Order: sequence, then C-alpha cells, then structure tokens
Amino acid sequence: MHTPVLLQESLSFLEPKKNENFIDATFGLGGFSLALCQYLMPNGKILAFEWDPYLFKLGVAKLQNTIMNKNIKIVNKNFRQIKNIVKKENFTHIKGVIFDLGISNWHYQNAKRGFSFQKDEPLDMRINPQEIKITAFDVINYSSFEKLVEIFQEYGEERDSKKIAKAIVSQRKNKKIETSKELAELIVAAKKNKRKKIHPATQVFMALRSFVNQELVNLEVGLKSAYDVLDKGGRIVVISFNGLEDRVIKKVFKTLKYEKKAKIMTKNAVKPTKNEILNNPKARSAKLRAIMKT
Ligand SMILES: C[S@@+](CC[C@H](N)C(=O)[O-])C[C@H]1O[C@@H](n2cnc3c(N)ncnc32)[C@H](O)[C@@H]1O
Repeated sequence: MHTPVLLQESLSFLEPKKNENFIDATFGLGGFSLALCQYLMPNGKILAFEWDPYLFKLGVAKLQNTIMNKNIKIVNKNFRQIKNIVKKENFTHIKGVIFDLGISNWHYQNAKRGFSFQKDEPLDMRINPQEIKITAFDVINYSSFEKLVEIFQEYGEERDSKKIAKAIVSQRKNKKIETSKELAELIVAAKKNKRKKIHPATQVFMALRSFVNQELVNLEVGLKSAYDVLDKGGRIVVISFNGLEDRVIKKVFKTLKYEKKAKIMTKNAVKPTKNEILNNPKARSAKLRAIMKT
C-alpha cells in the first residue's frame, strides 16, 4: 500500500474538470491517477509514466479491474521523455502534470533492491534494472575514495562523507559490501552513532539512489518538458521529499517566471498538516510547489 501525500492540496492546484487531459509523471500504484480521474470522467484522459518495469506491470493489472481503464494509459518510460511520448501517443490539450517524486512504499517493502537501510537486501537501487547498468553495489565497491566523497556530498549533503568513504574503502579490501544491512551498519559505526533525529544512513542511501538513477537530471529535464507540452493556463504540481530536489524545482520555476512564461502559484512550499503526518509519517518531509503556464 502507498498512501498518496498532499493529495487534496495537489488536486486543488490542478483544478481538474470533466473531460480534461492530464499527465501523471509518477504513477506508482496509481493513488493520484485514480483520484484525479474521477474528476475527468467520462471522457478525460490521463497519460501516466512509471519507470519501474515491475511496478508498471502491477499498475496495468490494477487498472484492468477498474472502470477507469479506458481513461488512463500507463507507459513504462522515464518522465524525462515526456515530450517524445506525448508526441508519439498524440496526447493533446494537456491541462496539468503531477510529479510525486521519489519511490513508492512498494519499493521499500517489496522490491528487494536494497532501497531500505532497515532491510538486508542486495545493494541494487535501480528504479529500472533493465535500463540502468550501474548498481549501488558497483558504486560502493568500485568507486574511488574521492568519487564516493563527491557522491555522498553532492547527492546526499552528508557531512561525514570522508569518514564514511574511508570506512568503505577499508572494509572492501577484505570483503565486498554486498547488502543494504552491511552498508547501513558500516555507516552507523563510521559516524559513531551521533544522536540525531534521522537514521545515520539516511543521507548516504538517498545519495546512492539519486546517483544511480540520476534523479536530479531526470527532474530538471522532466519539469522543462512538462512545461513545453502543457496548454496555456495549465498547471504543474510537484511534490518533493528532499532539499536537493526542492532546489531544482525552485530553479526551473524561477527561470520560467523571469522569462514571463509562468506564474508561481505557491509563494512558499505547501506542507502536509500535522494530522496528515500523524496518519502517514513518511509525509513529514514533503513539499508541494505549483506553477501555471501563462
Ligand atoms: C512516490 S511514488 C508515486 C506514488 C503515486 N503517486 C501513488 O499514489 O501511488 C514515485 C513513483 O515514480 C516512479 N519514478 C521515479 N522516477 C521516475 C522517472 N524518472 N520516470 C517515471 N517514473 C519514475 C517510481 O518508480 C515510483 O513508483
């Protein structure tokens, strides 16, 4: 189960209406698409992107059992290809695009690719194992000390990057680091268990996932492409979960504003209510930003 975050707030910025067309850039298990589609019935359409081939298949199967099957089409593509796919699918009159970034609960619970530092799984972290060649195992076991430091700093803002990289390089001389648990334990030991609100391995795991999947580049290209395919007056809503993503979003949105191509609808990012965080603690770091194409 994946509980969509900031769903009502997203819908209020998107303002979906009967028979309109939208793009869901991150289908996951379809929470957003199914909620959005109810406003678009009977003839509105959603073109949905899901890059993970396994989740994509689950999504197709899930849709088959609903009356929205004829309204929602899922493609197993990276959202950075929005422009090409929209053209190929002849998908027009697009009133809004929703990006719900990151990975789904399914990835942490079921994917068995080492996304969670709380599980003992092979270090993989590829969202699409068919398209991406380099795994988190390769990065951890074959990158130089300098490269590891750079990845942990640039993609995870990890302050103890050098300490952790040193521990990795030393450990892998004896034995390769193969699982998420081995890596998490090594990080805890290297950071000497400093008391913090978040688990000591959080930032390194975020950095690895982001680097392996090139998430920040995908986001920048995806946002610009989404803007290009949108109708005038159409909206883009983005929900992000870390500061690095939020920086990319702000940069793209500000540029569009200065070029007088878009109006920013969220002066400050919208955050989940206390109640939403109580019911779904994963929502606590979420931020929503929205623009309208002018
Ligand atoms: C937070 S989940 C979305 C959850 C979804 N809104 C729901 O309600 O079930 C993000 C999803 O986007 C997918 N994803 C991540 N990067 C992607 C990309 N570049 N292109 C397309 N899908 C991507 C992930 O595999 C994941 O399933």
